[in-house]
Amino acid sequence: MTDQQRFMLAAVMGWPVMHSRSPLMHNFWFNKLGLAGAYVPLAIEPGTLEPALRALHPLGFAGCNLTIPHKQDAMAIVDEVDDTAKAIGAISCVVVRPDGSLFGTNNDWLGFINNLKQQYPDWRADAGPITVLGAGGGSRAVCYGLLREGASEIRLVNRTQQRADVLARNIGGPISVYPWSERNEVLDGSAMAVNTTSQGMIGEPPLDVMLDRLPADALVADIIYIPLETPFLEAARLRGNPTINGLGMLLHQGRPAWRMWFDIEPEVTAELTERMERSILDA
Ligand code: ATR
Repeated sequence: MTDQQRFMLAAVMGWPVMHSRSPLMHNFWFNKLGLAGAYVPLAIEPGTLEPALRALHPLGFAGCNLTIPHKQDAMAIVDEVDDTAKAIGAISCVVVRPDGSLFGTNNDWLGFINNLKQQYPDWRADAGPITVLGAGGGSRAVCYGLLREGASEIRLVNRTQQRADVLARNIGGPISVYPWSERNEVLDGSAMAVNTTSQGMIGEPPLDVMLDRLPADALVADIIYIPLETPFLEAARLRGNPTINGLGMLLHQGRPAWRMWFDIEPEVTAELTERMERSILDA
């Protein structure tokens, strides 16, 4: 839908929402492509998600992204949930269909995987065991994406082990759950390590993990993007491991959303990445 008789509208719904960097990215694309449109942050209080989502169609929105705390709640509201969102257990992107019905999917996994592929074109999911730290919503998207890419072994560790057990059961595939007390040992022989916990985010203490056993060539990723370099990533970089931060995951989930909303696939360019990095560093 690129009919320029109509102003192109999309949004992110969250509570709080003003910290989100996604409006900067989407509005960069509207400007770059010379399109009349806007992507707006909508502060939607918990409990009011349903009327907010139902208002998208009459207001002329093509769809929206969802962030904390709405990703799970949307599952029971939209008219159709695709298999990806069902497997991950959360909706990150809502598409308004021409008849006003709402379709929910999840692009977070694509953001994680496509960012990896752009930054490390030789990366392969089956290069060796992948350790994933954390078992929340971010972890579900990461594990789902890694398995879709053909990961042969995921070592999942979470402070609350039961949550990791449930994740492994829900998503299926070669995921082995280890106790939190073994988080340092499981890094032994890992080809990749991913932090999906909240530890290391601004205002949170660093992730309590020692990287000593991690092979020096293992790829180390964090899905946090504020700060751009978490203490976990800094420790990995200082010992020579290649690293990848969480900003690319955000950038690369915008592209599939645009394809679904507007039938356009905007590029994740160095200029856009730099603009986003600057906004985080200047905050
Ligand atoms: P998200 O949806 O962003 O992944 P979440 O569902 O709140 O957020 O998950 C946060 C993750 O960080 C969980 O894996 C959580 O572990 P628990 O399941 O045990 O709560 C992890 N986490 C939070 N605080 C932590 C801490 N102090 N040490 C280790 N892990 C922590």
